[in-house]
Amino acid sequence: MMLTDIDLSEYDDPRHYDLENPLGAEKTFFLDLVEETGGPVLDVACGTGLLAGEMARCFGVEVTGIDLSAPMLSHARDMSGDLPVTYVQADCRDFDLPEWYALAIMTGHAFQNMITDDDVISLFRCVYKHLQPGGHFAFETRNPSASALVSSCSRTFYRRLPRSEEGAIICSIARDYDSSQAVLDYKVWRENTETGQERVSGGRLRFLTDDEIRGLLKRAGFQLQLVYGDWNRDSLTDYSPEMIYLCQKPYSDM
Ligand SMILES: C[S@@+](CC[C@H](N)C(=O)[O-])C[C@H]1O[C@@H](n2cnc3c(N)ncnc32)[C@H](O)[C@@H]1O
Repeated sequence: MMLTDIDLSEYDDPRHYDLENPLGAEKTFFLDLVEETGGPVLDVACGTGLLAGEMARCFGVEVTGIDLSAPMLSHARDMSGDLPVTYVQADCRDFDLPEWYALAIMTGHAFQNMITDDDVISLFRCVYKHLQPGGHFAFETRNPSASALVSSCSRTFYRRLPRSEEGAIICSIARDYDSSQAVLDYKVWRENTETGQERVSGGRLRFLTDDEIRGLLKRAGFQLQLVYGDWNRDSLTDYSPEMIYLCQKPYSDM
């Protein structure tokens, strides 16, 4: 079943997505993890597959990337060459693959696209079902107590991206944060300085607290191993930018 309640307009232009979101400090964190666990690896909400490709290239492990967005997956397939990466269009809250994985990851704050507790539990249960006993799941979300996004604003300039040949892109954003639901609705305008063309997209993000995430992981059967506050594996504090979870499917669940 393909669920379509998510606004995917942010992911309509994969080349621009990669320009705005190149691999950063998370790359070393996840590569170290793959070195520890081995494969096969499941990259949940893999987007353009930058990290999936990197994991396959560095360790030769088989990687399956799942994502809902057809343009992101098409770009990922174009870039994957001979690497042992398979891309599947699927909803991470409801998927069924024929393999069990040693490691599942979900990064790029894709977890924040899970807007309700039911979304999160469905995601956790699906991932759990696809892990080998003892298999690991790692994902991150922005720390609500330290994120500037947890606020509302009318349309505001936020960055200028050089995009050679095709002109620079001026990005602006408007945010509407509902603190009762911890849900942010946002709209982004991207204007090309050369052509004057404007692309408008939007989305929703949820900002769960550490306690809420721990409770939902437990409900899905996961054992929480570690929570980090940044990609250097420092402990989580109120000021940490990220909340990074490493959890395990118990060996007893055979
Ligand atoms: C912010 S991007 C992150 C992509 C990639 N993991 C990265 O680090 O660049 C979020 C991705 O989640 C995908 N996505 C959102 N909701 C999804 C769902 N329910 N099932 C599968 N993919 C989903 C989007 O299509 C998008 O590619």
